[in-house]
Amino acid sequence: MTRMIVNGEPILYKLDPETPLLFALRDASNLTGTKYGCDSADCGACTVMIDGKAALSCSVSIGSLEGATVTTIEGLAANGTHPVQQAWLAEQVTMCGYCEPGFIMAIAALLQASPNPSDDQIAALPNICRCGAYPRIRKAIARAASASAPVRPVPPSPAAQAPAPPVNLQR
Ligand code: FES
Ligand code: FES
Repeated sequence: MTRMIVNGEPILYKLDPETPLLFALRDASNLTGTKYGCDSADCGACTVMIDGKAALSCSVSIGSLEGATVTTIEGLAANGTHPVQQAWLAEQVTMCGYCEPGFIMAIAALLQASPNPSDDQIAALPNICRCGAYPRIRKAIARAASASAPVRPVPPSPAAQAPAPPVNLQR
């Protein structure tokens, strides 16, 4: 048996301690927003937060999580109001949407730790979007990062009008 807090609720899982967190969430708690992708820590579709840090739930056994606090996409914010979710909508990132919960959780954790993440930090995200929505994901990260930043007037600059170079999150 494993006790943990999931999306603010105390949960007692009466499951084999070797059960991956992903299956406990999806099959025992019916929290199906967390997606099953590769099952080999390669895609990021299963990303949740454990004690505030991004984690691949396919690769963590519940037996190691006694007393942990787990947040899934369902518990990130009420009614999809988290800045990353709002930015995702504003930039129309969604294509098939399968990568979406994992990406949003990973980005939310990244912005929590680094409100203005570097290109290297963004490129280091393990998440994969098979639909190739990476340019829009980049825009959503920038939008979410600036959502809580103080607004300062900036004089217009010709350089600011120049088109941005192409970006690619793939390594
Ligand atoms: S399902 Fe966990 S990383 Fe792909
Ligand atoms: S939107 Fe389809 S995998 Fe990312």
